[in-house]
Amino acid sequence: MKQIHSNWKMYLDFDESTKLINAIAREQFDSSKVNIGIFPNVLNFVEAVEKLADTDIAIGAQNVNWTPQGAYTGAASALLFKQAGAKYALVGHSERRYIFNESDEATRKKVDACFDVGIIPILCIGETQEDLDNNKKEYRLKKQLTKALEGSEITSEIIIAYEPVWAISEGGQGKPCTPADADDVHGWIKNEMKQYTDEDVSVIYGGSVGPDNVVSYVEREVIDGVLVGSASTKFSEFVDLVRKVETM
Ligand code: PGA
Repeated sequence: MKQIHSNWKMYLDFDESTKLINAIAREQFDSSKVNIGIFPNVLNFVEAVEKLADTDIAIGAQNVNWTPQGAYTGAASALLFKQAGAKYALVGHSERRYIFNESDEATRKKVDACFDVGIIPILCIGETQEDLDNNKKEYRLKKQLTKALEGSEITSEIIIAYEPVWAISEGGQGKPCTPADADDVHGWIKNEMKQYTDEDVSVIYGGSVGPDNVVSYVEREVIDGVLVGSASTKFSEFVDLVRKVETM
C-alpha cells in the first residue's frame, strides 16, 4: 500500500477547488493499492470532508495552530480541524518555515497538538539549496527532526515527508531529487526515527512529483508514498498519477 498525499496549497480558487473535489468524488480509486489524502485550502476543507465522506479518501489540514481555542485571530487549531474531520495535518512544510518564518519551536508545538487531538501529523523536513552547497544536508534534516520530536514520547502514528526545498516545483528549482538519493535519505530517516518510536514510521517523498516520475519513487520499498503539490491540483494529472501507482 502506497500513500499519495495531495497538497493543494493555495493554487486553486474557491470554485476551482469545488470542481476538483466533485471530480474526485465521482472517480473510483483502489484503496487496496493506494491510500489517498487531500489537503485543500482551509475554506474548502469542510466541503471536501462532506463530499468525500463516502470514499476512502482522507482529508488533511495544510497547517494547524497548537492552542485549541482562544484569542488567536486568523488561526485554526488542530482541535478545530479534528472536529471538522481531519485525519492528517501537514506540519513544518518548507513554505510555512521559510515564507511564514515558522520556527522549529512552532513546528514542535503543532506536532504535539496533532497528537493531543488524534490527528496524524505529516512532519515535513528538507534541506535548502544553501544547505546542500554548504554540505549541511544531514545537519539540517537531523536538526529539524530533533527539534520537532526530541523528548516527545511518540505513541501514535506519525508520517515524515522528505521534501528537499530545492526540489519543490514552485519556490524551489522544480528539479526532482533522484530516486536513488531519495532512497538513501528515506533509509536514513527511518533509522533516525528508531530513537523516537518502536513503530515503523512511513516516510514519503515530495518535490516535483508527477505522473511521469511517481513510480520511480514508490517502486522503492523504503519510499512509502509521495506528497504531491502542483500536479495534484490538475484533475487529469492527479488521476493519471494515482493510476500509475495502482497498476505498478
Ligand atoms: P510540488 O510540491 O509537487 O509542486 O513540487 C510539493 C510540496 O511542496 O508539498
